[in-house]
Amino acid sequence: METNYMTLTRFVLTEQKKHPEATGILSQLLNAILTSIKAVSASVRRAGLQDLFGVAGGSNVSGDEVKKLDVLSNDLFINMLKSSFTTVLLVSEENEKAIEVEVENQGKYIVCFDPLDGSSNIDCLVSIGSIFGIYRKVSDGPPSEKDAFQPGRNMVAAGYALYGSATMVVLSTGNGVNGFMLDPSIGEFILTEKNMTIKPRGKIYSLNEGYEQYWDEPTKAYVKSKKFPKEGKPYGARYIGSMVADVHRTICYGGIFMYPATSQSPKGKLRLLYECNPMAFIVEHAGGLATNGHMPILDIVPTAIHQRTPIFLGSKEDVQEIIDIYKNQ
Ligand code: AHM
Ligand code: MG
Repeated sequence: METNYMTLTRFVLTEQKKHPEATGILSQLLNAILTSIKAVSASVRRAGLQDLFGVAGGSNVSGDEVKKLDVLSNDLFINMLKSSFTTVLLVSEENEKAIEVEVENQGKYIVCFDPLDGSSNIDCLVSIGSIFGIYRKVSDGPPSEKDAFQPGRNMVAAGYALYGSATMVVLSTGNGVNGFMLDPSIGEFILTEKNMTIKPRGKIYSLNEGYEQYWDEPTKAYVKSKKFPKEGKPYGARYIGSMVADVHRTICYGGIFMYPATSQSPKGKLRLLYECNPMAFIVEHAGGLATNGHMPILDIVPTAIHQRTPIFLGSKEDVQEIIDIYKNQ
């Protein structure tokens, strides 16, 4: 029996000790996020037994309202974040407008999150995830959505939870990337992947190939070069259709994940604030690259909370190849 667990909370507190000026507020905020993640994980694992799949709106045998998993996850995140006394503004994929925290509960942080990503995979038990990025409010005065219009590089911390064959949280506070596996027997996240790094080149490409006819020319040329290389073996293809799972595999095995612009969605599908930025932050801190083809994702200055961006991320050399194709087109 282990008697000296390095839990995520202990890890964050240990990091915090290295900065005597730190107040502990960020640890308090991360704790609220971790509680939400544990509750989402428990709900995901029990969903089929509790009528949580499919559409919202029904009621269960005890007459309680049954919430769809993504509605439930959003409520969990919002309630935990608001009551942590650490946040001032919340941006969720599920809410059209940014949520201002009540004055009496306000802290200094802004959290952008996707409470449950990979909606098309929820009902068939394929991996899904939660994504979050944390910023400091930099303006004075009452909060407004403009406070969230900061480039991803300003993030204080970012991470994701993967509800896969196990539940794992991958976190960066700007100093390396670490992975923590949920031990359900003690309800704690334990450090299992220290200092995660992405190999400089992989052997896997990952995107929705069904949309090939809609891709731009650089994406077509790049994917063709992976399938029919001038020398060496072709890359393998993997696509789960859950960003967290596809990006986590890319971090673990190397390669490239892409959601390019298409003629149908010229800005791509994935959202900058709560899908692309946190993932780009993790990938860059693990030694990889994340770009929209023309500039690093983390340098984009947002102008709308739900804006989309094309994205290519993963192993440095793999992503550099598509950047070069865009540059030379
Ligand atoms: P969602 O926010 O509705 O779940 O959509 C986001 C998901 C990502 O997890 C995934 O990378 C992408 O949509 C897959 O889209 P597609 O089905 O077009 O390939
Ligand atoms: Mg999403």
